[in-house]
Amino acid sequence: MDTVLVDIAPVDGLDPESSVGSVFIETYGCQMNVSDSELMRRVLNDAGFSTATSPEEADVVLLNTCAIREHAEDRVIGRLGQLRHLKIRNPDLVLGVCGCMAKHMSEKLMDRLPYVDLVMGPDSYRDLADLVIQSKNEPSLSVRLDRTEHYDGVDPVRSDGVTAWITVQRGCDKFCTFCVVPYVRGRERSVRADEIVRQVEVAAEEGYRDVTLLGQTVNSYTDGACDFSELLRRVARVPGIDRVRFTSPHPSDFSERLITTVAEVDELCKFIHLPVQSGSTRVLERMQRTYTRESYLDLVDRLRDAIPNLALSTDVIVGFPGETADDFGETLDLVRHVRFDFAFMFKYSDREGTIAHREIPDTVSEAEKGIRLTSLIDLQSRISAEVNGSYVGRVLNVLVEGRARKGEGRVFGKSDGFKTVVFTSETEPNTFVPVRITSATQKTLMGEAVVAR
Ligand code: SAH
Ligand code: SF4
Ligand code: F3S
Repeated sequence: MDTVLVDIAPVDGLDPESSVGSVFIETYGCQMNVSDSELMRRVLNDAGFSTATSPEEADVVLLNTCAIREHAEDRVIGRLGQLRHLKIRNPDLVLGVCGCMAKHMSEKLMDRLPYVDLVMGPDSYRDLADLVIQSKNEPSLSVRLDRTEHYDGVDPVRSDGVTAWITVQRGCDKFCTFCVVPYVRGRERSVRADEIVRQVEVAAEEGYRDVTLLGQTVNSYTDGACDFSELLRRVARVPGIDRVRFTSPHPSDFSERLITTVAEVDELCKFIHLPVQSGSTRVLERMQRTYTRESYLDLVDRLRDAIPNLALSTDVIVGFPGETADDFGETLDLVRHVRFDFAFMFKYSDREGTIAHREIPDTVSEAEKGIRLTSLIDLQSRISAEVNGSYVGRVLNVLVEGRARKGEGRVFGKSDGFKTVVFTSETEPNTFVPVRITSATQKTLMGEAVVAR
């Protein structure tokens, strides 16, 4: 495949001969990283770099990485091992590691993998183009965190899909004992509301009808004058925007005002991802999650009372140090009680730098973690299948995202409640279609477009 050369002139001051090249970015981790990759693309495009369609065609390969679990880092190390072979054919290739794992491992990454040319943390992207050029001559490391960096004025080059990711908050101040994010992304800071609304307006002009606001504890958002509820109302008012989601809210910061806002504003999707982590108050305390089993369940009740048909999802960690069989039983019980639409479920992974790593020995064996994870996944899969089954017969408004992988002439999209819906149609992406649900599996709803008579 040929490299796609975008016709953009290099910025003043850069020597076109040495600066222009093509870049391939591979993204790992959460939506925050997807959003950061779009920002990196802007910085590179403005400096005259073009987009390569594969690592083989590229002059620069950047991995935007995640450090949340050991497995996430292992995957990247494995991938770098594959990519190093490209240097045999192209000795000038720049191989860079960006994002959370770059910050987490810093110098150690270069010591361990000397063929890596560039290591760059999530607050350094304004300098990305310069450092890529510099790293052609000598390895570059830039991992300092900057609590004033909001990337104001850097408009992302949106990759694809029908959702515009809008980062409204960077970093995290919660310091949950298991979590590496505050160390790799720095302190919590909110982007100015005016800047966010401007970015949403730009996305709407580009044709996006669906936006997702991103932050690690997105509902603690404040720019000093505007809180999260007010921000949601402002974003929902932007002409052309039909759907607004946000992720991830922290249970402790979910105010009554925010519940009312989600209930009242039509554009706000009736779907909330509300990470619980554990059903045991004892474990939640040791995780420093700042809520209890009871207060979480009370929040779920208040949300469901205020918002009919609310879809809920969650994150759960099994095998946190000191988690007993009884603690885990409480997690199963909470999951059975709440009946989440779906859940992301993880084995605890000990992360260097965190409070748990320093102070709480990892007591649950790998085998036991595996057994607990399997039984939790089994339970949640049954619940997801039952919840999805209850949608049969209902009509959902689906925003089409593209062609379904399996099955000729079928498209898929998302409902307001974040259900993936597959149906037979030739409808173009970014179009809303009412779909009557005819069958369901644990992961997907199938249906038929409702044709106006
Ligand atoms: N800010 C979000 C979570 C972001 S990280 C929140 O507080 O809800 C995404 C998920 O990864 C977490 O919700 C948690 O379930 C999981 N996770 C984080 N650190 C982990 C670790 N050390 N081991 C296993 N899972 C972890
Ligand atoms: Fe990590 Fe806790 Fe912050 Fe979420 S709230 S990013 S789990 S420290
Ligand atoms: Fe996201 Fe992973 Fe970083 S979950 S914030 S990419 S550590």
